[in-house]
Amino acid sequence: MTQAMTQDQLKQAVARAARDYVAETIAPGAIVGVGTGSTANFFIDELAAIKDRLGGTVASSEGTRKRLEGHGIRVLDLNDVEDLPVYVDGADEIDGGLSMIKGGGAALTREKIVAAVAGTFVCVCDQSKRVATLGRFPLPVEVIPMARAYVARELEKLGGQPRWREGVVTDNGNVILDVHGLTITAPAEFEARINQIVGVVTNGLFACRGADLLLLATPGGVEEYR
Ligand code: 5RP
Repeated sequence: MTQAMTQDQLKQAVARAARDYVAETIAPGAIVGVGTGSTANFFIDELAAIKDRLGGTVASSEGTRKRLEGHGIRVLDLNDVEDLPVYVDGADEIDGGLSMIKGGGAALTREKIVAAVAGTFVCVCDQSKRVATLGRFPLPVEVIPMARAYVARELEKLGGQPRWREGVVTDNGNVILDVHGLTITAPAEFEARINQIVGVVTNGLFACRGADLLLLATPGGVEEYR
């Protein structure tokens, strides 16, 4: 009898597929953007096997920077990088148009910055992250601390139920509001709308700049969607 794959085995499989994608597509000495979270951590561990072929990496969080450096992988300041051909990161939800909700690990702002610079965004997920419509996962919004209550009231006007992720401070010194109760049918418009609220740093919708390639781990193998 074949045993069902665990979620960690699925994450490991997709991390390996992403490593192979990077090895096959980037030029020797190129820089790789690296995401944050448990799936990204599996990717970092796989990336160690090809570290000598990389010019270095850019990290999307302090946690990722530490893990990369722990493997002896060079981490560069994004300001010193002009060409970033690829960025590999996980997601909390991803829809059929490759729009995502991200930020479960509170790294959304740096993730969005690295994604903006990258030529190709490769999203690595297990099949539990695939959804028809975004919103069941509470949408993280990074907020300047003094604006927390005001932004929460504005988010309520947009139909959400914001909850302060108490005790969490982002790498940028800000706080997170997780917005529950949303059904996001027009992700790019909603992303732009939330970012207009004064005090919002950014929100976890990655729709204006979604993924270019989804590597999706299923028990039958890693599937590709573009
Ligand atoms: C962190 C993120 C992560 O990519 C997202 O939370 C998915 O994490 P995991 O791979 O652990 O499920 O956006 O801010």
